[in-house]
Amino acid sequence: MRAIIFDQFSARPQLRDIDAPTAPDAGVVIDVEATGVCRSDHHAWAGHDPTITLPHVPGHELVGRVASAGSGVTGFHVGQRVTVPFVCGCGTCQWCVNGDAQVCPEQTQPGFTHNGSWADQVVIHNADANLVAVPEDLPAAAVVGLGCRFATAFHGLCVRARLAAGETVAVFGCGGVGLSTVMIARALGAKIVAVDVNDAALASARELGAAHTVNARDLSPEDLSAEVVAQFASTDPDGVAVTVDALGRADTIRAAIGALAPLGRHVQIGLLPDEPVVDVPRVIALELSVLGSHGMSAAEYPELVDLVVQDRLRPQDLVTNVIGLAEAPEAMEAMNIPARTAGMTIIDLAR
Ligand SMILES: NC(=O)c1ccc[n+]([C@@H]2O[C@H](COP(=O)([O-])OP(=O)(O)OC[C@H]3O[C@@H](n4cnc5c(N)ncnc54)[C@H](O)[C@@H]3O)[C@@H](O)[C@H]2O)c1
Ligand SMILES: [Zn+2]
Ligand SMILES: [Zn+2]
Repeated sequence: MRAIIFDQFSARPQLRDIDAPTAPDAGVVIDVEATGVCRSDHHAWAGHDPTITLPHVPGHELVGRVASAGSGVTGFHVGQRVTVPFVCGCGTCQWCVNGDAQVCPEQTQPGFTHNGSWADQVVIHNADANLVAVPEDLPAAAVVGLGCRFATAFHGLCVRARLAAGETVAVFGCGGVGLSTVMIARALGAKIVAVDVNDAALASARELGAAHTVNARDLSPEDLSAEVVAQFASTDPDGVAVTVDALGRADTIRAAIGALAPLGRHVQIGLLPDEPVVDVPRVIALELSVLGSHGMSAAEYPELVDLVVQDRLRPQDLVTNVIGLAEAPEAMEAMNIPARTAGMTIIDLAR
């Protein structure tokens, strides 16, 4: 089968033919229909994840069809159209049983713990616990982001921050995760300020429902906090209720924590290779919550898939670029430099 593979971290990934995988007893092989290009793929390629072994196939956001299933799989059949959260739980530990597979200690992740979905086929472990059935008529572009960026934004806002209608939210970074966050925050009825350094991304954020935007270029973290708070000066002058780091930068976390009102909640989605410094005295004095958000478990998917089926959330509107597998190496390398365009790139395996 065709796959995008790299032998060394940060060396140009290559399109090659490799052996097709076989299904483990409790797992499946998926024929990939489409797969996303997420910045976490770049973190994997850049060597930021010590668990990755080389050579490696990236890719963790996907929609496809079950090509073959292990003997232990009972809930899904060959030919069924599915997606999967990028964090796959073991299905049996106390967290999985409670519907929190996103923190399963025995988790597997396509594109990280084993070869991923930038390929004709990908293995998904513990299929009964992790696969999510997808209606035939949903376009692939509406489904791909549910594997990672859109779902993580949904989980971060709804479950971790419990964002309520009328609350203020500041979204730092308006790439795939950030624009997903803006779209979902708007659907929840929040008041949104979006922050980025790319004017095209800020324009998209406005179209998707951000009332205010701030370009962070040349602003210190302290000035950025003040600028974000100033956007709500007439209604909420004491700071914002929820901040989301959808980027992964120590400076951004500092600016976000600095913009929070008393009892505010910060949601950390962006991965960062270095340890950030958190203003702990401010966290204590204002009783702030600093919340991690790590994908979303299959147990939470029915609500999200329903909202997409009802067209109340439209992840497909975030997809601005559809490429073929042969263009994926270039897409990976393009993440080395700041983006000028906005929206998500997905790979259509049929191209
Ligand atoms: N926790 C999780 O489960 C999870 C899930 C998905 C993605 N992630 C992580 O989330 C982050 C975002 O992923 P993505 O695919 O949306 O990335 P992306 O590259 O699409 O988006 C990043 C955005 O940040 C903007 N930006 C760059 N520098 C900035 C600055 N100084 N201030 C403000 N904005 C700035 C960029 O212009 C871009 O719009 C990555 O670190 C990714 O690995 C984590
Ligand atoms: Zn588990
Ligand atoms: Zn991702």
